[in-house]
Amino acid sequence: MKKFLDLISEEMKQAFEAAGYDRELGKVTLSNRPDLCEYQCNGAMAGAKLYKKAPIMIANEVAEKCEGSDVFSEVSAVAPGFLNLKVKEAFVTKYLNEMAVSEKFGLDAPEHPKKIIIDYGGPNVAKPLHVGHLRSAIIGESIKRIARYAGHKVIGDIHLGDWGLQMGLIIQELKERQPSLVYFDETYAGEYPAEPPFTISELEEIYPTASGKSKEDPAYKEKAMAATFKLQSGVRGYRALWDQIMKVSVADLKRNYENLNVEFDLWKGESDVHDEIPAMVDYMKKEGYAYISDGALVVDVKEETDTKEIPPCMILKSDGASLYNTTDLATILVRMRDYHPDKLIYLTDKRQELYFEQVFRCARKTKLVKPQTELLHIGFGTMNGKDGKPFKTREGGVMRLEYLIKEINEEMYRKITDNREVAEEEARSTAKIVALSAIKYGDLSNQASKDYIFDIDKFTSFEGDTGPYILYTIVRIKSILNKYKEQGGSLQNLNICDAGSESEKSLMMEIAKFNAMMEGACEESAPHKVCAYIYDLANAFNHFYHETKILTEENADKKAGYIALLVLTRDILETCIDVLGFSAPERM
Ligand code: ARG
Repeated sequence: MKKFLDLISEEMKQAFEAAGYDRELGKVTLSNRPDLCEYQCNGAMAGAKLYKKAPIMIANEVAEKCEGSDVFSEVSAVAPGFLNLKVKEAFVTKYLNEMAVSEKFGLDAPEHPKKIIIDYGGPNVAKPLHVGHLRSAIIGESIKRIARYAGHKVIGDIHLGDWGLQMGLIIQELKERQPSLVYFDETYAGEYPAEPPFTISELEEIYPTASGKSKEDPAYKEKAMAATFKLQSGVRGYRALWDQIMKVSVADLKRNYENLNVEFDLWKGESDVHDEIPAMVDYMKKEGYAYISDGALVVDVKEETDTKEIPPCMILKSDGASLYNTTDLATILVRMRDYHPDKLIYLTDKRQELYFEQVFRCARKTKLVKPQTELLHIGFGTMNGKDGKPFKTREGGVMRLEYLIKEINEEMYRKITDNREVAEEEARSTAKIVALSAIKYGDLSNQASKDYIFDIDKFTSFEGDTGPYILYTIVRIKSILNKYKEQGGSLQNLNICDAGSESEKSLMMEIAKFNAMMEGACEESAPHKVCAYIYDLANAFNHFYHETKILTEENADKKAGYIALLVLTRDILETCIDVLGFSAPERM
């Protein structure tokens, strides 16, 4: 379906043309004076210079050509030459009724659907998820869903940190605690036990202990590095122990991401590309891209137009060890080879901006990607506490994601049970759904690159620009629709009628923006645009609701028309929250 604003612009362009002016002058925009008009066109102002004529004269001529238009109910030329526009009720009605029966409410499939791999999550194995991982998961999941909804093929990959020194540290610490474990017996040739020698809580304690020790004791660190090396060179017992760590940790991660309504298609990690590195390094050397500098193997990535220093991309350290970017480059190689994506998107903290610049340049220069492959890093800002500093526990420690979620769940439960009498079980499950909307909407409604303040009171409020407010609106609509059904009404085959009030028309014009909004949010990978849209839509709906007697309307056609409008509003709101990664309860 054509976009609503484009249809309006088209009508205005025809009027400019009919009056003898360049049709491109007829571009229409939303009014910045909603008290005066709904839309406006400033083409006569621009045309004045071109045609050496007073803008008001042009505007008057164009306005005359709009007489009898199917689109405009009002076109007024006002000094010094603006065109203030109002659209006909019937034109909006027709558009909405078409939306209601169109696939995806009239959002057209992309001309060239892309295959996109999105790399988000990025947790490190055996370390509990903390709030730092929250943004990547929330924003990445939403960008994935938006692109998928828009018609692209999207693969989400968690890209686990599962291969570096952290694994060696855990193995070393286990060795010190339980040296008799069969995994450390290098002469052992039998099968290893099926049961892991630790639980997830033990694992989560082992890592920080080991990491602390290695910072204080260089000898301990040496041993951990040696363990890492043994693991990476394939010592059987070490690999088997690594498998156990992965098993326990991944099960825990899956549970955590599931609670966040975040799903990855691929659970690959840094370890998966380990065996690809030697051949990639050889290739880079052979083609002359990589050279030795101070003992390390590097690829130059600076460009003449750079205004700041972009250091070379280091491929191997002087001891031959690979680095974070070595695995990222090898992962690009594998993704291109196995999935042939048109675009790769990465979500990390914006402090990794320079890092990704280097990796992307290196991937292009060494032809790991095609010239037309799009590489996009979305760097997000920090989630801060009310004090403006990175979010911490009350005691000042790193906040575990699980605890944060629990806290919000409790707060939501309290609010829900304060509001009304509700059975314990229902209150718990509703609290969980609403809490997720509070967390996700609180994050996504900000432009990703900006820091934001995680304010529990604000995010869990049922009023204002919050997730719970959006859900409350959806629940309100659902409850009216249920009552209508109880009265014997059916939700099938209803037609939206011409607006009978300002508030109804405003709601209808908000709805009409859907396809343009979704296309923009996809193109710009910008979930905050979806949030801004549903906030406006929810406000427009609530305004209409407060001014209109819906269920007590006596004219049956008019009432059915209201219901049709409610159904479309609900469906659009629910589609939008689904791409944001949360859902609405039946009641709250
Ligand atoms: N594991 C990394 C970290 O904790 C994040 C990984 C991000 N993704 C990537 N392809 N580099 O910092």
